[in-house]
Amino acid sequence: MKFSLLTLVFFSLSFVTSAYSNPKTTAMELGKAKYLMCSACHGMDGKGLQISPGMLMAPAYAESTLVDSPEAFALLLLKGIAKEGADFMGVMAPLEAALNDEDMAAVMTYVRNTYRGHDDVISPSQVEEWRSKYADRKEPVTRAELQELVE
Ligand code: HEC
Repeated sequence: MKFSLLTLVFFSLSFVTSAYSNPKTTAMELGKAKYLMCSACHGMDGKGLQISPGMLMAPAYAESTLVDSPEAFALLLLKGIAKEGADFMGVMAPLEAALNDEDMAAVMTYVRNTYRGHDDVISPSQVEEWRSKYADRKEPVTRAELQELVE
């Protein structure tokens, strides 16, 4: 009896520990915390914060194929998007200095899984690769450039 109770405690503890150390769970928790920064414009529901009827602070993720392409998503976060029209009140600013590799990977994982139905994890080493690939790029990227990465 004593043995089985201990075994039960042991298994419950190892289950709890594995749930917390699961890379996806960890990334989703960190990503949700970092997403607060994005919610100021994109809204906590990812639908874009409404400023007035017909005017959003930032686009909704619902139709965003840019979120589906990990490289396009990383690039727009690192460099920001060049302001080409007046569709949105806000500006997508470069966040390469604001988010380290781990934070950026986590926020990407959170957005892709929460709003676009993906079931995967973006790793900090992927972000590190994109950061160095685009290190010389100083200007915000255009939508045309991002679109090329999607197709
Ligand atoms: C200050 C407001 C603001 C903040 C903060 C912000 N964004 Fe944006 N974001 C925008 C705007 C505005 C656009 C549209 C840019 C354009 O097309 O001119 C945009 C575009 C995007 C897009 C492209 C969506 C599409 O059209 O396919 C993604 C993805 C995105 N943001 C993700 C994020 C994430 C993730 C964060 C937080 C790490 C974030 N943004 C923070 C304003 C913001």
